[in-house]
Amino acid sequence: MKLIMSEQRVQSMQFGRLTMGVCYYPEHWDRALWGEDLDRMLAAGISVVRIAEFSWTMHEPEEGHYVFGLFDDFLELCAEKGMQVIMGTPTATPPAWLTTRYPEVCNCSIDGTPYVHGARRHYNYNAEIYREKSAGIVEAMASHYGQHPAVIGWQIDNEINCETDEFYSEADSAAFRAWARERYGTLEALNEAWGTAVWSQTYTDWEEIRVPGHVLNDGHNPHMKLDYYRFVSDSAVRFTRLQADILRKYKKPGDFITTNGLFGNLDNHRLQDDCLDLYMYDSYPNFAYGLNREGYYRARKAAEAPYSTGDLEDRRWSMHLAETRSVCPHFGIMEQQSGPGSWTNRMAGPSPRPGQVRLWAMQSVAHGADYVSFFRWRTAPIGTEIYWYGILGHDNRDNRRLAEVMDFGKDLEKLDQAGLCGAAHVAAFGLIRDYDNQYDARVDDWHSRMAWKSEMEIWAASELSHRPLDFVDLRDETPLEALTAYPVLFYPHPMIMTEARAALLKAYVEQGGTLVLGARSGYKDAEGHCVMMPGPGLLAPVAGVTVGDFTMEDPSEEPVGQEMDGTGYSAPVFREILEVLEETADLRVLSRYTGEECWYAGKPALTEHVLGAGRCFYLGGAFSREMVNAILDRAGAKLPCFAGMQLPEMVEAVVREQDGRAYLFLLNYARHEVLCGAPEGRTFRDLLTGETLDGAFRMPAFGVRVVTEA
Ligand code: GAL
Repeated sequence: MKLIMSEQRVQSMQFGRLTMGVCYYPEHWDRALWGEDLDRMLAAGISVVRIAEFSWTMHEPEEGHYVFGLFDDFLELCAEKGMQVIMGTPTATPPAWLTTRYPEVCNCSIDGTPYVHGARRHYNYNAEIYREKSAGIVEAMASHYGQHPAVIGWQIDNEINCETDEFYSEADSAAFRAWARERYGTLEALNEAWGTAVWSQTYTDWEEIRVPGHVLNDGHNPHMKLDYYRFVSDSAVRFTRLQADILRKYKKPGDFITTNGLFGNLDNHRLQDDCLDLYMYDSYPNFAYGLNREGYYRARKAAEAPYSTGDLEDRRWSMHLAETRSVCPHFGIMEQQSGPGSWTNRMAGPSPRPGQVRLWAMQSVAHGADYVSFFRWRTAPIGTEIYWYGILGHDNRDNRRLAEVMDFGKDLEKLDQAGLCGAAHVAAFGLIRDYDNQYDARVDDWHSRMAWKSEMEIWAASELSHRPLDFVDLRDETPLEALTAYPVLFYPHPMIMTEARAALLKAYVEQGGTLVLGARSGYKDAEGHCVMMPGPGLLAPVAGVTVGDFTMEDPSEEPVGQEMDGTGYSAPVFREILEVLEETADLRVLSRYTGEECWYAGKPALTEHVLGAGRCFYLGGAFSREMVNAILDRAGAKLPCFAGMQLPEMVEAVVREQDGRAYLFLLNYARHEVLCGAPEGRTFRDLLTGETLDGAFRMPAFGVRVVTEA
């Protein structure tokens, strides 16, 4: 493995070859099974196991008394057999002695009730004693296993901010107080930032500040909540950093430090930059089909929701993989779904159909994973997850899932030989995100209704029209080159805008970029205060228009739509009436509102502003997939390197490229065979089957092809 500096701001550690792993729990099994299990894994092409991430009590059965026997023996066996190991730090599961002796380490629900021992992730990041005890166990494990020849990397904790991403313990209130004091210095500044003049909320003593718990109608101060989410993220990063610093003292130079994400209220980019060498994701696309307690399919429920991508089902996990890639261009999958997944009390799901386990693993590789580790080798016979099936079932016999994993392993070998490892994803356009606006959308229902709808529709348009996207992280210090790497950037609803970001976006457009903004852009400042400027606030110079009037969608006057070039489009969620005094060559109205009862019919809904060498589209609403496609067509966005391929909607197209060689992943999510077509005059080779493809070619249900120019 080598450490590289990517073109983006993040560091990323590349695997030297495409690698297959599995999650294993030696503490769940009779030792007599270990050797046979490792032999079967190796025979299946699995060369790495992730272990020990929930092992705190095994390693520290009594406070300060560290024991290593069980894992020593297992690691010795791994070294003997040539199996490599990723060690977990076990801080997601504090021992019973710890939570009993130091109850302040427990997190609480919003009403202040502590979570008790019995599940996991019930701790908080801020209790000093938890930080101390965590440092103790990490130090003990790192100093003991750091130089072990079988160990190749470390996973910190498990799924930081999973299960819950909100913290309401006394320790959190104390830490929030300190955090706010550090940020604002004086109570005067804090009161100003939190807008406490409203409803007599003024703080007169630091001790009065608490994490935002239960209030009537859930209507807690939005500016304080925005800061609370920033605080939760900082707490998680600080806790991870504490562990990373210890691991770095003891690990071998080439070994990596990682964790498995992506969860809410967490600046994952900062987590990566401050703490990690490599980011990993846990991919469970079968969640799309799980039944919850009310008997709803998650996907069906989503399809019934007003703003849905239910139609993309398991394919929606490609969006999460793209989010992961934005954090770390060369990422790994620490947990890849290998069977039906359920807890005893949560969800119940169908088994992956034949072909789906391989399809989902390839989905991860297509999006940039060079390491894929399945969850888990064998299904647990005990505990909450007895129905979270791994590769093998409780009966321990070879099965179709193992056969599929082995097929996938052979695919990986072929792709490795073809030089795929380390290849970069190539996008047709970018979708900007920033954490301030993500947190604000959690606080602000108006914001979230637009943000959720638009992101999903931009994603769906990208997927179904085969124009893959990258997520692009934006913050004040982002270099312009991070933006100019993309000819087209959507930034759907940046309600919070800063001077620095507005200047960056303007520079991006002036040098030739195409920026696409949606309603309510530039409406707030960094504290979430509404600005006293015409919309889109600081972005008005780049958008070239201002917002005159607006309304949230009004079901009583439906249907309201908009029309562009004689074609009708929907006008979902929010409608801003744009002010254009005079159309010029540099400022054009592209679409106008329509609707019999609509009081703003005929008014501008979408404009195009030419600025320097580039342009800015401003849509006074949320995006529909049809509108996204119309804008992408206008901007000339195409499938990179393989334009002209004829692909049905149900086939996902993803491109990776390295050393001038482009690889096209075609993933068929349909339950039936589909027909594709190569552009005339070009011949391709399928790296998995060796077939030559020209003209029409078929893909079976759940089939995968990886294609290069012949
Ligand atoms: C993940 C978690 C694993 C396991 C898996 C299946 O979120 O990291 O430990 O619980 O889900 O539920």
